[in-house]
Amino acid sequence: MHNLKLAAPQHEDHEYLTGIPELQEEAHKAQAYEYLQSIHMMGRYACISGIIRAMKCRSVLDVGCGEGTLCTYLGSTASYLGIDVSGTAISRARSKNPTTEGREFIAGDFRKLISLVQGRQFDAIVWAGIGLGWRESQDGPWIESLLPIVRQFQELAHDKSILVFESLYEYLDALMPLFASLSPVTGIDLFMPFAGAHNRRFIRVLSPRP
Ligand SMILES: C[S@@+](CC[C@H](N)C(=O)[O-])C[C@H]1O[C@@H](n2cnc3c(N)ncnc32)[C@H](O)[C@@H]1O
Repeated sequence: MHNLKLAAPQHEDHEYLTGIPELQEEAHKAQAYEYLQSIHMMGRYACISGIIRAMKCRSVLDVGCGEGTLCTYLGSTASYLGIDVSGTAISRARSKNPTTEGREFIAGDFRKLISLVQGRQFDAIVWAGIGLGWRESQDGPWIESLLPIVRQFQELAHDKSILVFESLYEYLDALMPLFASLSPVTGIDLFMPFAGAHNRRFIRVLSPRP
């Protein structure tokens, strides 16, 4: 039997924690990302893992992996490396995914991705649910903070890799400059009617080369 949460997400009280890079550990301890575990949000993971399976990706890097829920959806179809800045998220991810073969979780800052993954390349690199937490600082510019991270993705990708971006639909227009140096592969727009807030999302799948 599943152990998914059936209650509607109750995250408004913790919303401010999720947008501040320095507070990600506190955000996880305060269960500010608990809403992602609601069954009403599971369509995100189902769609992302479905794309990864359909494109026959054998290795996945999940950047800002949180509690590693995507890993549980992927099963053993691909090797998986999840990185998150929060040690609490990483230890929850390890408990949820006890099989260690082909699954790794590392606590680290994705702004230093290249040194964290030490020259490995991946068939799929996933960036899911990361919005304002990607700024260099709370008040810093957004896209300018994100561009170096996308360049890191390009370095860790080979010509046939896919980059999977998932976030709130309301951010899509603002994020378009990030995608300018990438080529579109496919996309899905999601509406999860029972999820309450944060229920309109996009998924864009891009090739790492122009
Ligand atoms: C909304 S959660 C999404 C988690 C996961 N991708 C998912 O969809 O279930 C955003 C995650 O990004 C992580 N994060 C934020 N800034 C980060 C950074 N600089 N380096 C690594 N992880 C970071 C947070 O700890 C949090 O787990």
